Amino acid sequence: MAIDVILGLQWGDEGKGKIVDYLAPNYDIVARFQGGPNAGHTLIFDGNKFVLHTVPSGIFRKEQLNLIGNGVVIDPITLSKELKNIEAANVPYLDRLFVARKAHLILPTHRYLDAASENAKGKSKIGSTLKGIGPAYMDKTGRNGLRVGDISSSDFKKKYEALKDKHLKLISLYPEIDFDLEGEEKQWMESLEILKSLNHVDGEYFINNALAEGKRVLAEGAQGSMLDIDHGTYPFVTSSNTTTAGVCTGLGVAPSAIGEVIGITKAYCTRVGSGPFPTELFDETGEFLRKEGHEFGATTGRPRRCGWIDLPQLKYSIMLSGVTQLVITKIDVLNKFSEVKAATTYEIDGEQTKQLPFDLCDETATPHYTAYPGWEKDLTGINQFEDLPENAKSYVAILEKELNTRVSMVSTGPDRKELIVK
Ligand code: GDP
Ligand code: IMO
Ligand code: MG
Repeated sequence: MAIDVILGLQWGDEGKGKIVDYLAPNYDIVARFQGGPNAGHTLIFDGNKFVLHTVPSGIFRKEQLNLIGNGVVIDPITLSKELKNIEAANVPYLDRLFVARKAHLILPTHRYLDAASENAKGKSKIGSTLKGIGPAYMDKTGRNGLRVGDISSSDFKKKYEALKDKHLKLISLYPEIDFDLEGEEKQWMESLEILKSLNHVDGEYFINNALAEGKRVLAEGAQGSMLDIDHGTYPFVTSSNTTTAGVCTGLGVAPSAIGEVIGITKAYCTRVGSGPFPTELFDETGEFLRKEGHEFGATTGRPRRCGWIDLPQLKYSIMLSGVTQLVITKIDVLNKFSEVKAATTYEIDGEQTKQLPFDLCDETATPHYTAYPGWEKDLTGINQFEDLPENAKSYVAILEKELNTRVSMVSTGPDRKELIVK
């Protein structure tokens, strides 16, 4: 069997959690392949709301197995809090949750370093989630990291102390910040016992054996394509590959094993943290989108920056990941607009182009917009395509045509049931 992929095509928060949760029953295994507790994936069903950070969004579907892949960085503290919430909802997970031994650990001092580094950057800060993501991936690529499989080794404590000492030396180079290392470390060690008690597997064999047995696997992305370490708006990116390529390294599967690639975009666009966002709206329209879309971070609570959908940006993301079908979320947020805009080209040095420049921080890239008639009707909860007003149908058709990719789902509200499957 092939492994299908769900990933975000913008700057994150496209609604990946909702769609993974919805599609999970069609699969045997849901696997996260990158990122860590910087992610916040919201699931709403049966009157309950859950925000997942590390645990795959298939966990509430009781027949499905879930794998935290080797490409993920795990903070045992966040993970154990998530597990407590799942337990409190009476969802059995122990025999359904698996953790790759090669996944790296986020230490308290990774978070300390993240905070010290961001603080030192001042105005040019990345706007990181302060979850220790950058420092943990730096230790991974710097070949200093600690992995899940190391926890049970007899010299784990020694390795931990050595890495912590190294971090403290680095931290001393930055201006001082408040961080309760002792308290955080105590909590971390306690949470490590919970991580220790989970099923640890050799993720590559786990997934490849499952595929060989004909099992269906869904890979769940975190963040969005524009936050990709290689292809995003560097340096205002995260520290992992958020595109389809990340599935291969983050789970240990061959490119030939990739099946459908489901790319998710909001019907508009948001970004949280610093960095370029060409279609950002600084006026009352941006404020209106934030209010209507409840655009506040699921992980940090920060207000998200809002703007119109950006077609050159989406085409770029579709190209990078080989997207085979599109999901449009939050179309209901545009209910009240008399017209809806989309950036269709950029103007750079007087030339029109549909290609993203090397550096989007370059202010000379001005988006040009096309306006489409709005529908001014409440789409919330519509789950049949035929029931959409004509103008909403046309908007979907325009996106489909411009992006040259089939739209397979349109989401009309945050609940699991508020979804059109075409
Ligand atoms: P993720 O990180 O991609 O999983 O997305 P987040 O959970 O961070 O953010 C998406 C937000 O939009 C969450 O609050 C969801 O409950 C909500 N949401 C998802 N789909 C829809 C939709 O179609 N309409 C509306 N109004 N809200 C949605
Ligand atoms: P989900 O999976 C939105 C952003 C941060 C910051 C940059 C780097 O919920 O879509 P990091 O902590 O990774 O070093 O921060 O990336 N960021 C996200 N923005 N959604 C996310 O995840 C994000 N994860 C990281 O705001 O700008
Ligand atoms: Mg999110």
